[in-house]
Formats: sequence, structure tokens, C-alpha cells
Amino acid sequence: MPDIVPGLVAHVLLISGSLREGSTNSAAIRTAQQVAPAGMAATIYTGMASLPHFNPDDDREDDPVHPAVADLRGHIAEADAILICTPEYAGALPGSLKNLLEWTVGDGGTYRKPVAWINVSGPAAPTGGADAHDSLRKVLGYVHADIVEPACTRVPLTRDAVADDGTITDVAARERIAIMLSTLADELARRAQPQDSL
Ligand SMILES: Cc1cc2nc3c(=O)[nH]c(=O)nc-3n(C[C@H](O)[C@H](O)[C@H](O)COP(=O)(O)O)c2cc1C
Repeated sequence: MPDIVPGLVAHVLLISGSLREGSTNSAAIRTAQQVAPAGMAATIYTGMASLPHFNPDDDREDDPVHPAVADLRGHIAEADAILICTPEYAGALPGSLKNLLEWTVGDGGTYRKPVAWINVSGPAAPTGGADAHDSLRKVLGYVHADIVEPACTRVPLTRDAVADDGTITDVAARERIAIMLSTLADELARRAQPQDSL
């Protein structure tokens, strides 16, 4: 597969909305890192559990933020795009992921940042994770992220799809995740082109 833009590497930050050991969402994220196309460097964000609860009093201009927040913001600033895999809890986003996204407001880190998701909600999910992804869409709108619609996809996974090494080994699922990433890569390359050459 050719580089996304010859000579350039697209940095994608991979975020799982689940803190559960054995998580299908985290497995999809690990798998995405494995199958990322040439020209894409994929980094897994591992700090969600360390983030403090968002409090505007702790996010004042000119005051240092909590180290975990600074780390999150640094990762987002370095990323050309973000890929999110999240479960649905009680009809919406997990609070921990919403908390992470609230911390992005203060520094505008997600402003126009390309963001895509893979919805891995399994066949048992009553609405297929639709409510979580509706709320994700809404929150991403508030933080002015640029949702990469053609790349957002659903790859249903069950818990037994997670192998001992914490990845997805099913060939078809891996292929669908790889295709998703190639689509994201194509979209990033398209956005990187000068507007007058489109
Ligand atoms: C407290 C709790 C609430 C949940 N609420 C919903 C829900 O509202 N809708 C849904 O489809 N699934 C719901 N689920 C199921 C999870 O979304 C599902 O188990 C998912 O696969 C978990 O992702 P993970 O494997 O990455 O941890 C809930 C699970 C838990 C533990």
C-alpha cells in the first residue's frame, strides 16, 4: 500500500472508551494499531483512567493543568486524526470518555481535528450502540471536531472475539478494520491537498 502522502506520515491517536479488562473496544484499538496502513503511525492513548474529573476551576488560563490532562492534550496536539472505539453505557457515552472530551474544550485541541470511530457493539446490543454514537457525534460537534464520515463504520464483535493477547484475530474483522483505516488515510490525504488542486 502506498504512503498516504509520499514522504509524510499521518499520526493517528487511538482511544478506547472502555476501561474494562478484556474490552472488545480496546481489542479493536490494538488491532487497528497492528493493521494501520503504510504511511500511518498509530499511537494508543492509555491515560483515560488517570484523568481527573473535569472541573473548570482546574482548567484556568495560565495555570498549569493536571499532568494527565497535559499528557492528553499533548497526544491530541501531535495527532493528525483521532480514532475512537467506545461502548454504550446507559444509553450514551461512557462517563470516562465524555470526561476526556470535556478536557479537550479548554485548549481547543479537537478544533477541526479529523475524528472517526469504529462501532464494535455486538449483536446483543439492543440498538447496536446507536445511542452511544449519537451522543459521541453530538459531543464531537460541541468540541468542533471534524467527523470523517466515510471512515466511520461498524464492525460487530463479541467478547469471545478477543484473543489472549488482547487483539482481534478474526480475519474478516481485521480486514474490515484495515479497510476503515485505509479510508481514513485516504480522507486525510485528500484534506492535506491544497484546496485549489481539488
Ligand atoms: C453499566 C453498563 C451499561 C450498559 N448500557 C448499555 C446500553 O445502554 N446499551 C447497550 O447497547 N449496551 C449497554 N451495555 C453493554 C456494553 O455496551 C457492551 O457490553 C460493550 O460490549 C462493552 O464494551 P467493552 O467490551 O469494550 O467493555 C452496558 C454495559 C454496562 C456494563
